[in-house]
Amino acid sequence: MTLDSLGDWERTHDCGTLGADDTGSRVALMGWVQRRRDHGGLIFIDLRDRRGITQVVFDPQRNAEAHQKAHALRSEHVIAVRGEVRLRPDGMTNYKLKTGEIEVIVDEYRLLNTSLTPPFHLEPEVDAGENLRLRYRFLDLRRPNILQSLIRRHHAARAVRHYLNEADFIEVETPVLTRSTPEGARDYLVPSRVNPGKFYALPQSPQLFKQLLMMAGFDRYYQVVKCFRDEDLRADRQPEFTQVDIEMAFINEKQIFRVTEGLLGHVFKEVLDQELELPFPQITYDEAMARYGTDKPDTRFGMELVDVTPVFANSNFQVFVRLIEAGGMVKALTLKGQATLPRSDLDKMQGKENLANHYDVQTGAQGVAWIKVQANNWQGPVAKNLTDVEKDLLAETADLEAGDLILFVAGESKIVNPTLDILRCHFGNRLNLTDNNQFHFTWITRFPLLEYDIAEERYVAVHHPFTAPVEEDVGFLADHPERVCSRGYDLVLNGYEIGGGSVRIHNHDLQLQVFKALGIDDNESQQRFGFMLDALKYGAPPHGGIALGFDRLVMLLCGADSIRDVIAFPKTQKATCPMTQAPEKVSLEQLLELSLKLDLPG
Ligand code: AMO
Repeated sequence: MTLDSLGDWERTHDCGTLGADDTGSRVALMGWVQRRRDHGGLIFIDLRDRRGITQVVFDPQRNAEAHQKAHALRSEHVIAVRGEVRLRPDGMTNYKLKTGEIEVIVDEYRLLNTSLTPPFHLEPEVDAGENLRLRYRFLDLRRPNILQSLIRRHHAARAVRHYLNEADFIEVETPVLTRSTPEGARDYLVPSRVNPGKFYALPQSPQLFKQLLMMAGFDRYYQVVKCFRDEDLRADRQPEFTQVDIEMAFINEKQIFRVTEGLLGHVFKEVLDQELELPFPQITYDEAMARYGTDKPDTRFGMELVDVTPVFANSNFQVFVRLIEAGGMVKALTLKGQATLPRSDLDKMQGKENLANHYDVQTGAQGVAWIKVQANNWQGPVAKNLTDVEKDLLAETADLEAGDLILFVAGESKIVNPTLDILRCHFGNRLNLTDNNQFHFTWITRFPLLEYDIAEERYVAVHHPFTAPVEEDVGFLADHPERVCSRGYDLVLNGYEIGGGSVRIHNHDLQLQVFKALGIDDNESQQRFGFMLDALKYGAPPHGGIALGFDRLVMLLCGADSIRDVIAFPKTQKATCPMTQAPEKVSLEQLLELSLKLDLPG
């Protein structure tokens, strides 16, 4: 097929705007062929661009040559037409389309390009696997729902910048080739050709730079910035992702919360036209773990966990008694009105493998015990071992009524809590308690500063090593580091951690003390973070901030299930890009230039 050039044609309108008021106008439209229909001697084309679809009509009476050529048009061919807007004949209005009252009758036509048949239908409901879609992401991005998500992302970014600019923040870019920034993941490394044997690390976040900007007197900084973390990927984790990174000087938690809440209020108003209820509720880390078993609770529904250890401590249910005696706990989840849950679902909660396969529980829990509560009959293996007094206590503690189902997990808190968290979310979804149009934010505060890492045999920072301890706990740093609370906080939305931050250490000696508690001695501190320690000696102001996970925020704004749906060119779960084939081998010359030799596992 011979292609035409665009010549001096100019688009007068996009494909989403023409309406009845434009009847009689002469227009030039350009776009992709969504569909061709041949009808009663006429050819109808749904012409598409990013703003919509307009019906275009080729009539042999009007231009026989154009009509003849239009027979060859196929999906995704690119065309330009000039013609006249007219009302569709009676009864042909398409109320689903913004442009559904009109059509453009073609006087002139140009074929700008052809297209192979796409490997999958470019419809909202896709019929292709994700690998194929990512291999042809340039086509996948033509699907209206993906396109809309990226437009929404753009609106959200625009709203973020607008709000922060108005609030007198300065956007500053920080280096991408840098040193390791300890956020707890592995670094992506970049070898330096001119410094053989030395590597840059891509930033896991701009943490140190934003603090240095506060020390430089910038006062209010922000950046919409790419961060890089080599960690196991999931639906809400990508190896490169975007943060809205914020830092302020001369502030405390209250002011950081206020700015963040104002920012999110503005974003939700601009993007979804929704008013958020401000301020967001706050709960402590301990309370979140007790009530939900997680530090990122989905608070769109109740169904809170209850500690029922006292009910079982002296009971005849030996399995639980033994676990309690070994220092464990028993917690329960009441499912209101769910005594009718089929036995088969309960059986799928027995044994590690069943739990992993059917409920995606991979916590090491051996199983889940249960009782079905009926008026005069409590069913299930646990019930037989309880006295009437214990049953009454259980009913009161766990708010049990006839018709309810109660699930129990016993053992160490680090198994019990995550298991019940997963089950709570599972049943929250299954019982339709999670509405994606509802947005429930929660601040989680008073995290522990440090936690013991058994594999590393040392304490590690729960947030990062620059997070300030609460003042009254500083005395515990040396001897009881586990008792120290931090001034860190997370922001949780509908069960996702969408942000984290803290008030920072701005005192040189305290920073050294915290490094020490983390097992980093003065020498290593100096070697790794000497520049930061130096800066702390030159008049560092009190400061703090937060980073919002922008991809996660946009995912929730779009009601999407994965951040991959709101990133233009995302990586797969295996951190690859099926389109560019990254990561890729490099030539021997390139390796030699970098003074590198490979030693690959056989
Ligand atoms: P943190 O490590 O909590 O804090 O990161 C901030 C937020 O970034 C998002 N996030 C991710 N999103 C997608 N893919 C990932 N791999 C990923 N990792 C993190 C989360 C998270 O809440 N420098 C500190 C912030 C500070 O202290 O100011 C930091 O990076 O939504």
